[in-house]
Order: sequence, then structure tokens, then C-alpha cells
Amino acid sequence: MSFIYKKCAVLSILLVFMLVGCELNIENTSPSEEVKPSENHEEQHSEDKETEIDQSKQEPDVDKETNQEKDREAIETSVQRDKDGLIIVPDPESITVVVNKQRRLPDGYEPPDLVEPNVDFYAGEGDPKRKLRKEAADALEELFAMAEAEGLELVAVSGYRSYERQEIIYQNNVDTNGEEHANQYSAKPGTSEHQTGLAMDVASSQLVSVLEPSFIETSEGQWLHDNAHRAGFIIRYPDGKEDITGYSYEPWHLRYVGKELAAEIYDQQVTLEEFFGLLTE
Ligand code: DAL
Ligand code: ZN
Repeated sequence: MSFIYKKCAVLSILLVFMLVGCELNIENTSPSEEVKPSENHEEQHSEDKETEIDQSKQEPDVDKETNQEKDREAIETSVQRDKDGLIIVPDPESITVVVNKQRRLPDGYEPPDLVEPNVDFYAGEGDPKRKLRKEAADALEELFAMAEAEGLELVAVSGYRSYERQEIIYQNNVDTNGEEHANQYSAKPGTSEHQTGLAMDVASSQLVSVLEPSFIETSEGQWLHDNAHRAGFIIRYPDGKEDITGYSYEPWHLRYVGKELAAEIYDQQVTLEEFFGLLTE
């Protein structure tokens, strides 16, 4: 009996120990404070991520500025110049290309899509000066049709000129009138808009030989001044802008730039150089 008693006592003690042990285990897992450090750790981690995100948010800005500087440097250093210091235009086929006394066409440039517009010409059949680039040719047809609808008679005198053709024209002018005079009216080869296939000299069919400033006194000349932009052309060498363009007033020289740009240039009464901020000191 006492043996059974002792055994019960030992088992009771063991049971008590087991129960206390379980209780302790439960206590060890339940308090939320015990979990918090690991949550804090997560938060810490998240903060790190936030910090990382913040840094990554700033990094593109830094990269952007650096890239913009690189782009600027690339543009500035990528400007190609010829042996005389003239800029060689990087976009000769652009409808808005600016060619002038400071900006020339690349060697050997020929426009890609020269065609003959369906208008009245001064030059005989087959003459390359009857040609313009396709888009400009279509626009010239539109312009001439608009003029005709108002009872005016325009004639296309001189459009596309090759480098070699311009060389002959310039040299003839120098030989006839001297270099100073020639430079006011004729572009040196490589710097003429006529080589782009986007320019056409236009006259009144009554006074075809008059490519002179007095053309503005004809109905056709005045009408072109007021309306050429409606078909996408500008008067490229306006009166009073000789210091900017480098050429005397040429009311007959039309340059195709597209309707939108032509309207803006007409409204603002500026040159292509002024419009694009390409003024020289
Ligand atoms: N008459 C213009 C300036 C030219 O020769 O291209
Ligand atoms: Zn011209």
C-alpha cells in the first residue's frame, strides 16, 4: 500500500512538473512583445527598402541630368564643319532644313525625290530647274491653282539646282558684278536652298524676266507676299532682314517649309534663322 502511495506521489510530482513545463512553453510563445522585435526587424527592413526606393527615386534624376549633359555635349561636339568653318547640316532631307551662309549641305548632296510640278515654266522641257522635291512640288501646284483662281498668272522660273549649276551661276555673277554684289544675290555652291529642291523662284507670266525687288509691285508679287504661306511657302529673304539672311530682298524666292511652319513664320514676320534661333553674332 505504501508502495502504491509512493508511486502515486512520484507520478503526481511528475504531473505537476509537466503541467508547469507546458505552462512555461505557452508563456514563451504567446506574449506579443516577443514577436515585436521580429516585426520591428521587418519594419526596419521595409525602411531600408523605403530608403532604397528613395535613393532610387533620386538616382534617375541624377542620371537624367548627367544624360542631358552628355546629350548636349554630343550635339555640340557632333556639329560637323567644313574647312572654312561652315556647319555641315545634319538633316539635309528635312523639310525644315536651314541652309544659309553659315550652314551648308553635305558634299555631293542630291535631294531624293525630285519631280516636276504641273505648272507653267519659264525654262524648256527637261530642264532640271523645273524640278522640286515631291512635297514642295505638290504645294506649288496648290499655290499656282490658288493664284489662278484669283485671276493671277504665275510662272515657275528656277527650282532645283545642282552644286555644279550653282557654282556656274555664282561664278557668272562674280565675273559680271563683282564678288560683293554677287554675295548679296547668289549663294556660293553648297549653300543654296535651290540645291535642297525646296526653293522655287516665281515670277509674273507678264514680266517673266523680272526677278528684281520691283516684283513686289506686281499683283502677283503682292499676292505671293500675302498668300504663299497658305500653301506652305515663305518669302525666304524678306525686305529689311538682310542683316539676318545675308541676302538682298528677294520677293520671288519661295521656300517650302510646310503649312504649319509657314503660317507661324508669316504671322510672326520672322526669318527662318530667327524662328529657329540660329542668329549669328
Ligand atoms: N538667290 C539665292 C540666295 C540663292 O542663290 O540661293
Ligand atoms: Zn531663288
